[in-house]
Amino acid sequence: MTQETKSPVRQVDNCRVCGGTDWQQVVSFGPLPLANSFLEPGSPDEEPRFPLGVMSCRDCRLMTLTHTVDPEVLYRTYYYVTSDSQTISQHMRYVADLCIERFALTEGSFVVEMGSNTGQQLAAFQDSGMRTLGVDPARSLAAVANERGVETLPDFFAADTARRIVKEYGRAQLILGRHVFAHIDDVAEIAVGVRELLEPSGVFAVEVPYALDMLERNEFDTVYHEHLSYYAVDTFATLFERHGLRVVDVERVAVHGGSVIVFVSRDDAPWEPRPVVAELRQLERESGLFEDSTYEEFARRVDHIRDTLPPLVRGLVADGKRVAGYGAPAKGSTMVGVCGLDAKDLEFCLDTTDLKQGRLQPGSRVPVHSPEQAAQNPPDYYLLFAWNYTNEILAKERAFLENGGRFIVPVPEPRIVSLADLDG
Ligand code: TYD
Ligand code: ZN
Repeated sequence: MTQETKSPVRQVDNCRVCGGTDWQQVVSFGPLPLANSFLEPGSPDEEPRFPLGVMSCRDCRLMTLTHTVDPEVLYRTYYYVTSDSQTISQHMRYVADLCIERFALTEGSFVVEMGSNTGQQLAAFQDSGMRTLGVDPARSLAAVANERGVETLPDFFAADTARRIVKEYGRAQLILGRHVFAHIDDVAEIAVGVRELLEPSGVFAVEVPYALDMLERNEFDTVYHEHLSYYAVDTFATLFERHGLRVVDVERVAVHGGSVIVFVSRDDAPWEPRPVVAELRQLERESGLFEDSTYEEFARRVDHIRDTLPPLVRGLVADGKRVAGYGAPAKGSTMVGVCGLDAKDLEFCLDTTDLKQGRLQPGSRVPVHSPEQAAQNPPDYYLLFAWNYTNEILAKERAFLENGGRFIVPVPEPRIVSLADLDG
């Protein structure tokens, strides 16, 4: 008998939302390394690279990666911890209040979160007197959450997990999934689990980067192997209607370059869809989300960034300026991979995450430095990889700007920000 080795890469055939097969190819970034696999210095050899491209389903307009990588490979060396930035902490409080007010949660209501990471979001619900349970497959993160008093099951959320929770804890008034849905391949399984776990009048709140914002603001660097899907509200409606659920409310929020919180209830629940649901679906049509040309134009704008950003950086370096990266987020790995930037262009990347410091950015092999290390010898320009925190970072780096330092903000298109731009 021959031993079959299973390839960790699979080409996507059927749309994970509607089952369709009529695909429009949108962008192809060629094989790139995994965006969160930061390397040990001196790592030998080539890193494994996997195809990275996006296509759009002409039936439901789900945008998906053309290939999926086995989660076992993807999440084995994983350095993502929920940001403790001010922007995100404030957002988590906002999310808790929004859910509590809109859907009449009260003290003692039971809140379950999938992909709950270190339990920061659930802690906000606990502060409001709610019972909480987290579910997260990353054992180390679940352990941190349990230690801080946010009970967390170290599991993937699936239909059988949902049943187990119902049996042991009861049904949930609120199920949360923040920035986790885009990572999930079998979304039907999640929908089934959600339907079973929800109280008849319960609500599922799912927060994802919004496809409309991603397209309009050229946020191509949010494309990496972990982000399998990019959703519009209309696409969510298609998905959930197939599973006895319906979209009853939507809130657009600024985090991560523009996101939506989509509220979903059982289709027999007492919640009437608010007008904003139909309004956003209409806006998506008017914005061309259902037309090929919209995606073709997006691809052209991405090409433009790829053609202009590297010469901008290299021109500065040729003029004797020192350029470094600000933040080493996953999207920075895509940015350098697509633009072909490396350690000749960028001296280092500054990042606050302990686990990333002392390692190398995937692909570019640019070393990651702590903010303290960076402050000892600051560059002339910071390429702002963590552009989703622009306001917070510009405020924090006031002294750098006052000393003549500048930022290069790469999207929606490369621009240079100096102190004059802030005060002007
Ligand atoms: P984030 O945008 O949350 O994630 P991703 O693109 O990987 O999904 O990552 C932001 C990164 O930027 C994270 O590694 C922490 C870093 N960072 C700083 O170094 N300084 C800062 O002030 C902020 C806000 C983030
Ligand atoms: Zn589809």
